[in-house]
Amino acid sequence: MNIIQVANYEEMSKHAAQYIIEKVRANPYIKLGLATGSTPKRTYQELVKDHRENGTTYQHVQTINLDEYIGLPKTDPNSYHYFMRRHLFDHLDIPSEQIHMPSGTADDLLKECVRYEQLIKEIGGVDLQLLGIGQNGHIGFNEPGTSFKSRTHIVSLAESTRIANSTFFPSLEEVPTRAITVGISTILDSREILLLASGSAKAHALKRLITEGIHEEFPASALKLHSHVTIIADAEALKFV
Ligand code: PGA
Repeated sequence: MNIIQVANYEEMSKHAAQYIIEKVRANPYIKLGLATGSTPKRTYQELVKDHRENGTTYQHVQTINLDEYIGLPKTDPNSYHYFMRRHLFDHLDIPSEQIHMPSGTADDLLKECVRYEQLIKEIGGVDLQLLGIGQNGHIGFNEPGTSFKSRTHIVSLAESTRIANSTFFPSLEEVPTRAITVGISTILDSREILLLASGSAKAHALKRLITEGIHEEFPASALKLHSHVTIIADAEALKFV
C-alpha cells in the first residue's frame, strides 16, 4: 500500500481529484468505482470544478457505485442515488446509462445482487475504485466479519455505522438497518484502489489498517491482498501511525 500523507481534508480532496482526473484523461473509457459519504464529497466538487474549467469529459466513462441503503427510493435525499446525483452526476457530462448503482428498492433484492455483480463483469470490471473507510474498518458496507470471498450482497448495518451515518438523518431511527453492497472480493477485483481518509475519527481505523494483520474482523485489511492500493490520508487520520 502506497500511503500519501497530506495536511488536511482540503488537500486530501484536491490530491484525490487530481489523481482521478489524470486517470480519466489517460483513459476516457475508464470504469470508475465510486463511494458516498463525507469523505469524497469535496473530491467530487473538485472533479466538477475541473470539468467546468478545464473541460475534462466523462462522456465515455462508466461509474459503478459501491452500495445503497435498502428501502430508500432514489428520490430520497438520504439515498446514495440522490447523493451521487447532487454532488457529482448532475454536474458532469456523463450519460445516465453509463451510471451504475445497486437498487435498494428492487422487488427481489437477491436478484438485484446477482444483476449488479454480472453488470460489473459485463462492463469489464472496475479500473479505479475509490473507497472511504468506516471507523470499524468497513469498506463499502462490508461490516466486520464479512467474508473476503463475498460478492454483492445484502448486509445488516452495524449499530456503530448507523450512529456514524445518523448525522445525515433527522434521527437514528430513520437510518436504514440494511444495505446492498458490492462484496470484498468484488472490491479486490478492481485493477486499482484509492482509499481516502480524513480526520481523527478515522485515526484508529488507519492505525489498525497499517499495523495489524489481515483478518475478516477488520474488512479493510483485505486491501493488503491487493497489489495496487494508494491511500491518501491527512495528518489527523494518520496521527496514531
Ligand atoms: P464517511 O464514510 O466518508 O462518511 O466517513 C466512510 C465509510 O463509512 O466508508
